[in-house]
Amino acid sequence: MPANRKPLISGNWKMHHNHFQAIQAIQKLSYALTAEDYASVDVSVHPSFTNLRSVQTVLGADDIPVALGAQDCHPDDEGAFTGEVSAAMLAKLEVAYVIVGHSERRQLFGETDETVNAKARAALRHQMTPIVCVGETLDERRAGQAADRVADQVAGSLAGLDRPAVAGMVIAYEPIWAIGTGETATGADAQEMGAHIRSLVASGWGADAAASVRIQYGGSVKPANAADLMACPDVDGALVGGASLDPDDFARIVNYRLYAI
Ligand code: PGA
Repeated sequence: MPANRKPLISGNWKMHHNHFQAIQAIQKLSYALTAEDYASVDVSVHPSFTNLRSVQTVLGADDIPVALGAQDCHPDDEGAFTGEVSAAMLAKLEVAYVIVGHSERRQLFGETDETVNAKARAALRHQMTPIVCVGETLDERRAGQAADRVADQVAGSLAGLDRPAVAGMVIAYEPIWAIGTGETATGADAQEMGAHIRSLVASGWGADAAASVRIQYGGSVKPANAADLMACPDVDGALVGGASLDPDDFARIVNYRLYAI
């Protein structure tokens, strides 16, 4: 992986942890990580909206160099959208990364590429980095449609974004069949799709954007498989769900290079 693409390992806590548990989790994670870890890997955690302020306070008070992330945002800055949270509100909490278009949002909440695009734009408008998720279903993979499906999602989710925006963002390749299932894509699968995504970025937004965009792999990343996945030249990080809830496991994933064979 070129030096200009520092790996980003992100913990997506989903709808887990109340704010007491979130505080404990970030404290434990900070005890497990070292200055050397932060020098070689960017780390973000993505608590629920209700826990962002608590986690932000701990990160600030203890000067912990873990970035704060959100799991979603609304495309508009304000308005009559009961129950929603805007990117403007997240930016005020020093949120640095916003996951948009997670497959659970796409599948369970009907988000389209158009919605994901609007959410990515909202994050960018407030100087936050979107983590745009793409990935195929098992049926699509079996039908040989995975590459086309991902190409459609990349084109739709990133439509109209300018080159610097795409260069600075994160695209998470998360095959839906690997999320929360214990099934992981092999390093070869992750590399193949990572290279595919990078070539799509090159043709849509130019070689420079393709060289700098960070591509994460997500889907049952664990301490045992992180090193293999991270060894892929077109995998620049990981989006970790289940294993990020245990601070020791998550720290071992961040420490993947110590476990590399
Ligand atoms: P998982 O989730 O690591 O539990 O498979 C990944 C994700 O949904 O981001």
